[in-house]
This record gives sequence, C-alpha cells and structure tokens, in this order.
Amino acid sequence: MTGDGKTIKILFLGDLVGRPGRFVVRDFLKKQRENYDFIIANVENASHGFGLTEKNYNEISEYGIDCMTSGNHIWDKREILNYIDKADRLVRPFNYPNGTPGRGSKVFELDNGVKVAVINALGRVFMAPVDSQWETVADEIKRLKEITQIIIVDFHAEATAEKICFGRFCADLGASAFFGTHTHVQTADEQIVNNMGYITDAGFCGTSDGVIGMEYNTSLNRFTTCIPERYEVADGNVVQINAVEVEIDSTSGHAAAIKRIFCYVDENEKEEDNEK
Ligand SMILES: [Fe+2]
Ligand SMILES: [Fe+2]
Repeated sequence: MTGDGKTIKILFLGDLVGRPGRFVVRDFLKKQRENYDFIIANVENASHGFGLTEKNYNEISEYGIDCMTSGNHIWDKREILNYIDKADRLVRPFNYPNGTPGRGSKVFELDNGVKVAVINALGRVFMAPVDSQWETVADEIKRLKEITQIIIVDFHAEATAEKICFGRFCADLGASAFFGTHTHVQTADEQIVNNMGYITDAGFCGTSDGVIGMEYNTSLNRFTTCIPERYEVADGNVVQINAVEVEIDSTSGHAAAIKRIFCYVDENEKEEDNEK
C-alpha cells in the first residue's frame, strides 16, 4: 500500500492509442508505478488504434497495469476471440448479450487482501445497440458489494449527459470511482459525487498532434469526402498522458480525493531513443 494502509490509490489511464500510447504509458509507469496500489488502463485502441492483440496484452501487463478495460473496439483484432477467456486482467463491456466471450466485471485481490471490483460498460446514446446498462450494471454492483466495497466503473460512452446521469446512478448504488471513456478528450469536471470519484472522460494516451490519437490527414479526408478511408495512428514527437488518480478508503469504499493528470512528453527532448 502506498499510504497509511487504509487508503488505496488507484490510477486510471485513458484509452491507449497505438504504439505511441503504449510506449508513453510504459515510460510513465517506470517512474510512477510504485506510487499506486492498483492501475487500470483502457486498451480498446492499443493495437494500431483498433483492438488488442495478444502480444500487446502481454506487453501492457508487463508495464505494471493490473487491469485493462475496453469498449466498442474490443473485437477489432479478431484474434482476441482466441485468448480473451484466459486474459485475466482484461474486462470487456458488461452489457453485451449473454454468451459473449470474456467477462464484463472482475474482482482483483491486492497483495494485502483488499479486493477491488472493476466493471466496464457501454453507453447507448450515439452508439451501436447493446443491452441496457441501467439494469444490468445496477444488478452487478449489488452483487459485487457482497464481495467488496471498492467498485470501479469504466463507462465507455459518447454522450456527456448519459455519462453524467449514469455516473450519478452508480454513485447512488455505492460505486467508489467512475471513469468515462471513449471520447478521448479529458474533461475538467473531476469531483466527488456521493462518496464516488467521478470524471466524464479520462482522455487518451498517445500522440497529441492528431485527431483523438489518429492521423490528421486521413481524418480530414473522411470528414470532407465521406469516402471511407482507413484510419492511421498519429505519429508525432509530442505524446501525452491523460489519467486520473483516486484515493479510496479500503473499508468503506468511499473516495476521499480525485486528481486529473494531463502531461505532455516531447520525444525530442528525451535522451534515449524510444524504440520508434
Ligand atoms: Fe477509445
Ligand atoms: Fe471507444
């Protein structure tokens, strides 16, 4: 434990986008890993911007990330169907239909026996249709509260109003922290709501000079011509870490503090080559 033994400090990293996202997080955690009891990262865009290969899953595990959450891009690398059921750190959206491979929530046990439950869910506004998160996640929070008071939610959704409303709903059910993801733009509304740490969107980790982590020109062509063109991950010298840290009382599950992290790294100013 990092603090007094009663409070646990959790770090949540916004969507890792491609290799720049993976590498900036890898380097960040070399120095910061020991400051946290539990680290979560959204990895739905970690492999070339779309999905997650088994190789990248293993690499990201070695960075010191304890839990990986995901979102609508979870199935983009078809090989995930071959390994998701044995990927112990990976949580896919909870509100997919029954029978979907993988798991939508998981309870992790820290070295000192403290249990942390993580739920990942998709929103339904401006998103592909999925089961309602309202009933399914509510039932799951109630079930998990029988196991631990520490409940973390990654809500992967487009509409800010849906995120705010669902966040408040989860707070009233006793969640400890709620991190919005998917829009890749970090919001400045971090707060404690009814004992729960909340932010509408955690942002993304990856190349700053692009369009939410993707290359500008292909994004521009898609918007201006309406002709589908394959997205490419942005490449540039300036990369960013978008993350949120939350301190949680390990007995009550109540959040005591929340802080946004937004930092830039200029690869030109680093002494060592970053394997790019
Ligand atoms: Fe994403
Ligand atoms: Fe997404």
